Amino acid sequence: MDGVVNIEDLRKLAKKRLPKIAYDFIEGGTDDEVGLVTNEQAFRKARIVPRYLVDVSVRDQSTTLFGRTYSSVIGIAPTGLAGLFRRGADLMLAEAARDANVPFIMSGSSTGSIEALGKLAPDHGWYQLYSAKDQAISEDMIKRAGDAGLKTLVFTVDVPEGSNRERNARNGWGRPLKLTWKTKFEALRHPAWMMEWMKHGTPYFDNWAKYAGDGADAEKIADLVGYQNRAPMTWKHVERYRELWKGNFVLKGIMHPDDAIRAHSLGVDGLMVSNHGARQLDNAPSPLEVLPAINSAVGDKMTLMLDGGVRRGLDALIAICMGAKFVFVGRPTLYGVTAGGITGAKMALNIFRREIDLSMAQMGAPKISDLGPQFLMWKDEEDL
Ligand code: FNR
Repeated sequence: MDGVVNIEDLRKLAKKRLPKIAYDFIEGGTDDEVGLVTNEQAFRKARIVPRYLVDVSVRDQSTTLFGRTYSSVIGIAPTGLAGLFRRGADLMLAEAARDANVPFIMSGSSTGSIEALGKLAPDHGWYQLYSAKDQAISEDMIKRAGDAGLKTLVFTVDVPEGSNRERNARNGWGRPLKLTWKTKFEALRHPAWMMEWMKHGTPYFDNWAKYAGDGADAEKIADLVGYQNRAPMTWKHVERYRELWKGNFVLKGIMHPDDAIRAHSLGVDGLMVSNHGARQLDNAPSPLEVLPAINSAVGDKMTLMLDGGVRRGLDALIAICMGAKFVFVGRPTLYGVTAGGITGAKMALNIFRREIDLSMAQMGAPKISDLGPQFLMWKDEEDL
């Protein structure tokens, strides 16, 4: 890990460790992968006007979210199948987040369990739900998250159907993941990863094991997840989950102000403005582009968060100036944990922390509450 300076360095190391089939699963978008560029470019287009002669000798990037104070404004977004990149990655990410005092969201397709998360990081772990075809499963997952002591539930609404991920199709991706001779041959050039695969085999969806029946293997569990995750989702599900979950309830994937208003009317506490890291609808706008309209619609009533394309600490500050309270990253911390386990995950968070700190000084904003639209040269989405 010597010589790592930024997130891009971690990406390169992660790429080295992984066979193509696994790296492409992290990196890929959908269709022509226009959205990957859209998400990152939105931040590049923003212009921040600095203010000088402000005392920035002491900077504080802590912020309060749902009544809890976190040490920074970047948390870890849910990413499924993290154990494929490094065994145990889900809980390594949780531990890194806990130690940095920022939130970690466990994916509904995670390879670690809700109960283990509750033991490891009850104050930092959030759980992300995918609605299952069999509602008894979703409702049981919600109960398990509460029983484990987690306080925030995130319901992902932007996967109405699987998307067209052509990298996966070309690489022979399947569920459960099996290695063909071609993949095995390529994987031999990534021995650290291959040794883990030989030792542990196909990673499985820990949280789903109990619903697949006694002694179910990775294949049976993956079949169940594949079947259950293709469930119709409507506002009725939002109502039902809101009724069941007593803690903070967040919808992830909201991109339209009218949907934001409807979520608020149903008692949802927070929104994660997100396009799933450009993995679902290729020509969707970037979350940053739609944030101002959503902020105008519900910003004074709901906690707004954002993910997608954040690669620099400054990107988080831009999102906050535009109305977000908090920001999450998906790929950057996966690069970190893939490249260097817990050390790598911590390194990714530290890189962001340092960049945020320096950017706050450059802007003349020593506290997070100092940030706002007054720093933006262009304030509306039409200007971007
Ligand atoms: C994801 N994402 C995701 N989202 C979710 O709600 N549940 C999930 O299981 C997953 N799985 C997943 C796997 C991988 C490999 C990636 C890269 C992403 C989306 C994720 O939570 C987040 O919205 C994006 O990753 C944010 O974009 P960046 O930070 O990766 O640009």
